[in-house]
Amino acid sequence: MAHSDMTLEARLEQLQQQKWFEPTPQFRERSLVADDAMHREADSDFVAFWERQARELDWQREWTQALDWSNPPFARWFDGGQLNVSHNCLDRHVEAGRGDRVAFHWRGEEGEERDVTYAELLRDVQKLANALRELGVKSGDVVGVYLPMIPEVVVAMLACARIGAPHNVVFGGFSPESVRERMEFSDARVLITADGARRKGRVAAVKSAVDDVMGDLRSLERVIVVRNTGTDAPMTDGRDFFYDELLASAADACPAEPFDAEHPLFILYTSGSTAKPKGILHTSGGYLTQAAFTHKYVFDLKADEDVYWCSADVGWITGHTYIVYGPLANGATSVMYEGAPDYPDKDIWWELVERYKVSLFYTAPTAIRACMKWGVEYPQRRDLSSLRLLGTVGEPINPKAWLWYREVIGSGRCPIVDTWWQTETGAIMISPLPGLTKAKPGSATHPLPGVKAAVLDGNGEEAGAEQGYLALKQPWPAMLRTLYKEPERFIETYWSKYGRDTYFVGDAARCDEDGYFWVIGRVDDVINVSGHRLSTAEVESAIVSHERVAEAAVIGQADEDTGQGITAFVTLQGAQDGTDELVGDIREHVAKRIGKLARPKRVIWADDLPKTRSGKIMRRLLRDIAEGRELGDVTTLRDPDVMAQLSASIARHEDDEG
Ligand code: WTA
Repeated sequence: MAHSDMTLEARLEQLQQQKWFEPTPQFRERSLVADDAMHREADSDFVAFWERQARELDWQREWTQALDWSNPPFARWFDGGQLNVSHNCLDRHVEAGRGDRVAFHWRGEEGEERDVTYAELLRDVQKLANALRELGVKSGDVVGVYLPMIPEVVVAMLACARIGAPHNVVFGGFSPESVRERMEFSDARVLITADGARRKGRVAAVKSAVDDVMGDLRSLERVIVVRNTGTDAPMTDGRDFFYDELLASAADACPAEPFDAEHPLFILYTSGSTAKPKGILHTSGGYLTQAAFTHKYVFDLKADEDVYWCSADVGWITGHTYIVYGPLANGATSVMYEGAPDYPDKDIWWELVERYKVSLFYTAPTAIRACMKWGVEYPQRRDLSSLRLLGTVGEPINPKAWLWYREVIGSGRCPIVDTWWQTETGAIMISPLPGLTKAKPGSATHPLPGVKAAVLDGNGEEAGAEQGYLALKQPWPAMLRTLYKEPERFIETYWSKYGRDTYFVGDAARCDEDGYFWVIGRVDDVINVSGHRLSTAEVESAIVSHERVAEAAVIGQADEDTGQGITAFVTLQGAQDGTDELVGDIREHVAKRIGKLARPKRVIWADDLPKTRSGKIMRRLLRDIAEGRELGDVTTLRDPDVMAQLSASIARHEDDEG
């Protein structure tokens, strides 16, 4: 261990004894929120509080009712009001004379740089909006987006918003088969994709891979292809169009038409507890209000000075709210990076921080742990003195990683905002306000103004200091409005455990003696791998679709690097033996069905799976056995001998791993 590492270790050790971490006086002095006035205002009337935030946006028509909660859980915010989301993200900044401001400093994998201004974004968004209309897209039609991290993805989303066509973005790491499924579930009429995508120096063909699976999907009428890598893209006459050609021939002006506050803005599929992903539906006025509010106050944004960078992919909710809608509504300047954190080298993030003088940086705990593992020499190569605030999202952050982030990346000077929220909540719900809140490493601290959270026991009573279930006790503007085409599932999933007016989050949590919230993890069959949500059922169904597999059970197992890792217990058909080749084959199969992120890290061969007499797989036992815990009660099993066989199989597996 290098000398500098040793002193760091000692310093981190020392900091672990420290309970509170306060913002520095320098930070506090200039911060947007330095007292609890906003909390008090929101506590006295949360609806009026959110109305005041909504007034920060441009409305073409004022709402008649701020919140209609007469038919829970179906909320209507700013009802009767009308606005155009893309106008709020673009036109109003350009009209105010800020057209030359950079919206995105884009950096390509091979070092290419492109600065995209607000005026340029507005120009392209209008042209693409006109082109979409020419292709027959009307307000309410769903448009799929499957693009890498290039500025065109932002243009695509905002062009949809401009004409009231909800977008359905699919993360570029998902497989074409997942795209197909999501297009099918949402009846998408158009898909915007690319010829190819780059990843760590390699190029993958995207359009041809999409064609391979999309062929017979009849609802999909048009495909727009961004020329990104120059990869050969098969084009079907009359159906497929190149993005640049459409823009070249489209009319320049596309006036921002007003849409109802409750007009759907986007659908984003996320994993639930069954194999079928849930189409989270977000609408316009409330979503944008809370996206802009949280982006401004949680990150203490001064749009004229700060350079902000959220390292997520736009394909996740974090990218939607904190790369696209929040920052653009606030007129911020952001960094957007196409590549991976370790390509071309492990210091690329820090190089970009130095190059663009990033002041606000938002990433995931899993990325921080990877950086810890790579070592301090990478961040130490670069000048990180522009940073003034750091954020995390996606999973609980262990105190050690929190302290490392604070010391190594933030030089002990930057407050950390650990932000808790979900695809469903649309925006940050529990987080420090950086100039006000005393942080505790590992805790997301308190609900933001206008948000009411609680930890409840199984009966809906406050759990006190005990661990319980996280719940949200009042509606909020960016809440999901329903699950697309599945309103019953919406009620059943979120609003049946505690009734129609209390949102069941699906996370275990604890509230400590100081009123700090500690989110522990999921309580349902959702696995969180590197901050990416996957359902056990989804992965199981992909594995079982392999021709040699009879049955599979999947669990999330604690993993040092990725938070949770996927372990699959697999029963093969007939009297086959599991081999290493077959493990590789099954992993590949899952990558093809869902995406590489869903590949099981461990495959354990099982002659049979532990089941109750009614045939339900007991995942709790699988988790216990995989993590080497004492087995609980096995008497309810149909065949208690199964567990002994599994233990032996795990022991063999561990021997092999060596
Ligand atoms: C988890 C990502 C602890 C949680 C924005 C939640 C967190 C799920 C945190 C949502 C955090 C997210 N601390 N856990 N700061 N942030 N989670 O929908 O389990 O991809 O329910 O949204 O991630 O994941 P999703």
